[in-house]
Amino acid sequence: MKEQIQRIKDELREALSSFDNLDLRELKLVEVEANLRKLRDLKIRFTGKKSPISEAKRQIGALPAEQRASFGKLIQETESEILNSIEHLERELASYALDLKTRVESLDVTIPGFRPESGSLHPITLLRQRIEDIFVSMGYAVEDDREIENDYYNFDALNIPEGHPAREAEDTFYTTNGLALRSQTSTVQIRAMERRGVPIRIIAPGKVYRNDTPDPTHIPMFHQVEGLCVDRGITMAHLKGTVAEWLRRLFGKGTKIRMRPSYFPFTEPSAEFDFSCFKCSGTGVFEGEKCRPCKGTGWIELGGCGMVHPNVLRNCGVDPQVFSGFAFGFGLERMCAMLYSIDDIRLMYENDVRFLKQFR
Ligand code: DAH
Repeated sequence: MKEQIQRIKDELREALSSFDNLDLRELKLVEVEANLRKLRDLKIRFTGKKSPISEAKRQIGALPAEQRASFGKLIQETESEILNSIEHLERELASYALDLKTRVESLDVTIPGFRPESGSLHPITLLRQRIEDIFVSMGYAVEDDREIENDYYNFDALNIPEGHPAREAEDTFYTTNGLALRSQTSTVQIRAMERRGVPIRIIAPGKVYRNDTPDPTHIPMFHQVEGLCVDRGITMAHLKGTVAEWLRRLFGKGTKIRMRPSYFPFTEPSAEFDFSCFKCSGTGVFEGEKCRPCKGTGWIELGGCGMVHPNVLRNCGVDPQVFSGFAFGFGLERMCAMLYSIDDIRLMYENDVRFLKQFR
């Protein structure tokens, strides 16, 4: 019997020998778990119903009475020894498995998070907002209106007669039911005067559409800002002062403006306005070379302006004997391209994030 017990102990030692030089720190969680399963199987093999220990217990009854007690004790001791050595290993592995799990599943709230990609405003929006801020500070309201207009608002009310080239289909996008995508923000002059009456001081930034083939300086959709001021006693001097003031605020105190006589159907007299180049301060030369934004002329053409035509006032129910006003309009894309040194205005509408990211 004693040899039988010795054999069991030897077998157990043999079975557990693979755990002797197990380096826990080298094990992955799945390996630790596999070892735990191995220990559970060993427990069954050595102490379960079909184990040699159970077999030995069953044999106690067949022993001579005086041997039973001591042999029973020996078996008992052997069984607890077996359980002790297996369970000791089990505890060690289980606690290490728990350690690994907490390490894998734990969350370190002190690690800085990932910053979500944030978008940025489009360069045209940035410029529009700067211009809006300037005019709002001068007492102007910002007007927004529809982009699809009928001929009356697009042309007739603005004193653009039948037969004027602006009405040609080559210049304008017409819908099949006779409406047109507005080709200028001047339409808002009419809408705003009808809505608000006079006196009025507004700017109207917005999209306009022209049947142009895209190239580095043209696109079929672009932005304009319209300005309108109507009150008693408004003169060309107010127009000039206003245009000069907002351009100084945008491009710096030293900015000069000039006006050249021109023609627009909705103003009389009409002019085009230029401002002294922000890069070369009007000298035409920058860092010893011909200045790029003004092409060496020292002046940058910006837009049109004039005194609101009496017909336009009359079309809005305003008496031109009592009220007078000025209006102006200019595009944003070329100005924006100059400010940010963009060679090709088409880049602004290609939705390339590499381009757009630069305006953060
Ligand atoms: N609407 C004109 C254009 O698209 C610009 C313009 C000129 C607007 C004179 C005005 C103005 O209000 O008075 O070219």
